[in-house]
Amino acid sequence: MSRTVLPALTVPPGDRLEVVSAWNDDTPYQSWRPQILVPATFRPGTTSRVFVVVNQKGGAGKTTTVVELAAAWAAAGYRVRVIDADDQEAALSQWLIPQYAEGAAPHSLRSVFFSECSLLEATHPTLFEGIDIVPSGLDLKRVEYERPIGSEQALASALAREAEQGGSPYDITLIDCAPSLGLVSVAAMSAADDAVVPLGVGGLDMKALASLDRTIRVVQERNNPKLTLAAVFLTAWDKSGFARQLAGKLSEDYPDAVIVPVRRSIRAAEAPVAEQPVRLWAPESTAVSDYDQAAGIILPGRAA
Ligand SMILES: Nc1ncnc2c1ncn2[C@@H]1O[C@H](COP(=O)(O)OP(=O)(O)OP(=O)(O)O)[C@@H](O)[C@H]1O
Ligand SMILES: [Mg+2]
Repeated sequence: MSRTVLPALTVPPGDRLEVVSAWNDDTPYQSWRPQILVPATFRPGTTSRVFVVVNQKGGAGKTTTVVELAAAWAAAGYRVRVIDADDQEAALSQWLIPQYAEGAAPHSLRSVFFSECSLLEATHPTLFEGIDIVPSGLDLKRVEYERPIGSEQALASALAREAEQGGSPYDITLIDCAPSLGLVSVAAMSAADDAVVPLGVGGLDMKALASLDRTIRVVQERNNPKLTLAAVFLTAWDKSGFARQLAGKLSEDYPDAVIVPVRRSIRAAEAPVAEQPVRLWAPESTAVSDYDQAAGIILPGRAA
């Protein structure tokens, strides 16, 4: 199987987002431009790290965020594993298609929850160098219905077991959640170091954040004290007074998180059909460069 190497980007400096440590509210609207907020208290991560990309609101940009962060980090030389924790039919596993080895069991995340295999046995290569996937399909729903013993901790313990058995072959794991705060999403949050929240720029998106915030706090208290909200991505971002207001509110509510506007880009919608990361399909897209910049801030690159 030949795997495609994900490209480094050459983005003209004028197309990159400015990085600031505080919003300047005095800038008049006309000359205001999107900026990445990196608070002074933010500490970039060290590998190996597990990120959960979560928001119970549908269409918030979770799967796109997982694919583009994975592609950016793979291009920077990291070994990345993505986990599809969504039982929808057309989700991550239909975008970065798993390449099952001949004769091997096509294990999925469901098999891990039901203790049928290890996380590594459920991990399969994709067509992209540096990105492997733990796939899922409709049968992941069985976890919610049957609630196998220890489900909430199933992913955390699968990762811990991997670490005990000589360490994970992956520098980074990214978990793509379903638009729900069900058992599988809680298990994903219980296994992660950092939460990454993609958010549309809309009033209802903002309301959804309140219950997500409560869930993250409960998971922190009961299951996973290390979980922190590392970054908020404002997906399909357009310049508007409301976008600015929302970003201001987010920086007050989450003073330690990086806040990233990902500019709206029509090419983002096309890439899943091509079964390629947007980074490969349309490397010139502003969304790609915004994700690339954010990936470098959250986990600075290293030589491949
Ligand atoms: N920067 C962007 N510009 C334009 N469109 C975007 C951008 N990011 C995401 N989208 C589009 O928004 C839609 C929702 O994105 P995505 O599937 O990533 O969200 P999701 O949160 O994973 O959805 P679900 O809740 O169904 O899992 C898709 O059609 C996607 O192509
Ligand atoms: Mg999705």
